Amino acid sequence: EKGGYPDFMLKEIHEQPRVVRDTLVGRLSPSGEIDIDELGLSLEELNDVDRVYVIACGTSYHAGLIAKNLIEAWARIPCEVEAASEFRYRDPIITPSTLVVAVSQSGETADTLAAIRDARIKGAKVFGITNVVGSPVARESDGVIYTKANKEIAVASTKSFIGQVVSLTLLAMLLGQVKYRLTTNQVRMLFRELGDTAEQIQHIMDTQGPAVHEAALACKDARSALFVGRGMGAAISCEGALKLKEVSYLHAEAYAAGEMKHGPIALIDQGFPVVAIATKSPTYEKTVSNLKECEARGAVIIAIATEGDEEIGKLADHVIWVPKVRDAFSAITATVPLQLLAREVAVLRGCDVDKPRNLAKSVTVE
Ligand code: F6R
Repeated sequence: EKGGYPDFMLKEIHEQPRVVRDTLVGRLSPSGEIDIDELGLSLEELNDVDRVYVIACGTSYHAGLIAKNLIEAWARIPCEVEAASEFRYRDPIITPSTLVVAVSQSGETADTLAAIRDARIKGAKVFGITNVVGSPVARESDGVIYTKANKEIAVASTKSFIGQVVSLTLLAMLLGQVKYRLTTNQVRMLFRELGDTAEQIQHIMDTQGPAVHEAALACKDARSALFVGRGMGAAISCEGALKLKEVSYLHAEAYAAGEMKHGPIALIDQGFPVVAIATKSPTYEKTVSNLKECEARGAVIIAIATEGDEEIGKLADHVIWVPKVRDAFSAITATVPLQLLAREVAVLRGCDVDKPRNLAKSVTVE
């Protein structure tokens, strides 16, 4: 049942190249348009959208943080990401031109469902992204994309996250296209590179096992770990920290790297693990300078870095390498080592990785 893997979490991490491929099947028309016909919105209605809210919980919320960067970059419309449990109790600004994107693996998270109902009553168009066919999120939204993760058994979400990020990336490309911000040629190029991430994920899994193991040994007996990055890396850090807490019960916190000196750097002393998303990006140099500050205070630096980067090799104690990708797609590749790291730390600490204590796969109570 586990297909030869010791646990479902590892099996599901290894399914991610397939999830990327399946999510992209049929999504680019021969004439170069992103095709999401289940959207339930006409191209005119989409063109009218002037604000996007992504509402979700937990890991699905983190997929929203990635999407915000892409939607704002490609469609140039404001996008807010909000925990469904907050959104539903506020009075968010909603007009008929507001698009609410509800993201939920299970499709039955109580707060996310309540937020969908509330948003529709207030007149928003609601689009669901879920992994479960016919789930309440699917039924109660105006349109739905199904992530092609297939059933996820491990409580900690991995392949579903990748399915969500790829689906949201398609949505961002579509918005960019209907807003005339992305040309057909750009969309074709982005689509091809997005597809390439399937092989890149495979490459990470095939080559980085020993590096992940070394990094996990450095975290195993820590009391706490910090995850840092900027831009996309800040969003990826949030997912890395959540995964580690959930499965290994090690306290972890994510921080935008530039915020370190405003408080959290006080935590750093000899041997404190800092996991850095330090892939090549527009803010790479800034992140490196934050890491130097951590290193000077004794931190053990575990960097997720771009293959061929010699500078980071000298600075970090442990490096997990990922292939070079465009910043927009860095979440897809850089999350994989963080999933592997969380699982490896959990195994070393003797935790039940598939069934962490106190957690349920679907949260149908508020
Ligand atoms: C983390 C995890 C949870 C879920 C959250 C939302 O690994 O699994 O944080 O992401 O409970 O669940 P869904 O996506 O089913 O709404």
